[in-house]
Formats: sequence, structure tokens, C-alpha cells
Amino acid sequence: MKKTRSRAPGTLITFEGTEGAGKSTLIEALKLQLESHGYDVVSTREPGGSRVAEQIRQVILENEMNRMTELFLYEAARAEHYTTTIAPAIKRGAIVLCDRYIDSTFAYQGAARGIPDALIAKLNDIATEKTLPRFTVFLDVDPEAGLKSATNPNRFEREGTAFQEKVRRGFLKQIRKNPKRFIKLRAKQFPAETMAEKLIARLKLKPLKTKMQARR
Ligand code: TYD
Repeated sequence: MKKTRSRAPGTLITFEGTEGAGKSTLIEALKLQLESHGYDVVSTREPGGSRVAEQIRQVILENEMNRMTELFLYEAARAEHYTTTIAPAIKRGAIVLCDRYIDSTFAYQGAARGIPDALIAKLNDIATEKTLPRFTVFLDVDPEAGLKSATNPNRFEREGTAFQEKVRRGFLKQIRKNPKRFIKLRAKQFPAETMAEKLIARLKLKPLKTKMQARR
């Protein structure tokens, strides 16, 4: 059996995009490939990724609500997810692949709902103890085409194309502000396996130490 090797400290890589960009398929392919190289990989998502955060997710996705309530619930879910799932995994040396994170809040609650960035930045910092991803992969898709591929649209997808356009512009603004952290890719340009291979080459992951080297 293949031994899982890890390196400390771990790495957080997040995935962002508007609806229908194919994030989860890419994350699955990437996880399989990284594991086959021997890395300890945790794939998780926001909102959710821990027991309490998954319960908050249901409340958010199943109810219309005031935009401030929505913001606080996303941040509450994030604080719980960060402390119970992300931080321990990073500490033990895992590569954490997270489907959505702080940039989704800037794009959805900020750019699309009109909440000021300064407030979102403050709450993101509190929820994550200022932990930024090493890389953020942004999968860019034409909002209209993305929405067409939604089989069971959530309440954000039901808001329509104009809303998704604002969300996309919010992400593009985050990319301009954080050019070193973001990797922007055209969604579904290649099969997920090929995109995962290309990404691994760009992630600059440190080579794994063998047990012998680690002891030295
Ligand atoms: P989900 O069904 O997981 O959508 P997707 O597959 O596109 O990620 O629903 C999560 C929704 O929550 C998605 O529409 C984006 C939204 N969202 C925010 O509005 N703010 C946030 O901070 C996060 C993490 C997600």
C-alpha cells in the first residue's frame, strides 16, 4: 500500500468562480492526482466543511434573508470551518483544497449585494485568523453559459445573469488586488484531469521528503 507522506506546514488552495464553472470536478481530479503523488489532501467546501458549518449552509441556502444576516451566517460558518477543519489540516501538513473561501464573500455579498469591502475584509480576517490561501484558482466562465448548466439552481443562481455578472466583476476585482495569489483559468477549457495536471505544475508544491531525508 502506498504510504501517505506530508510536509509541514500545509498549504491552503482555494477555488472560486461563478456558478457552473466546474470547480468540484476539478477539485476531485486534483485530489486524486496529488494523492497519487503521496500528498495528504483534504478537500472541503464553503459554506460547510464541518458539522455546524454544514447546518448553517442549509439555513443560508434554503431561506431568503436580509443581506447582513446572510453575511454573518457565511462568516459564522467560515469561523467554524476554519477552526475545526482547515487549521488542523494545515497544521498537520496537509494540502487543503477548499471550494470557495474569502473571495466568494467579496464577490457575492460585496460586489453583488453592495456590502462594503472593508467590513467583509474585517470579518474574513476574524473568521480565518487572517489565513490567506497560498493560491486561489479562479475558473472563469461566461455567467449565462454557467447558469444554463445548473440542474438544480440555488437561490443565488435563481437571481439571474445580471447578478452573476456582478459576482464575476467582484472576482475580477479581487484578482486585480491580489495578482500573485490568483491563478485565472478558462473553465472547462480541457478535461478536468488535464487541467489538474497543468495546475499541479503551477502550484510550486515543495517536493515531498522521504522518511530517510526527514530524519536528517
Ligand atoms: P453551492 O451550491 O455550493 O454553489 P457552488 O457549487 O456554485 O459553489 O452554493 C453555495 C452558494 O453560496 C454559491 O451560490 C455562492 C454562495 N456564497 C456566497 O454568497 N458567499 C460566500 O462567502 C460563499 C462561501 C458562498
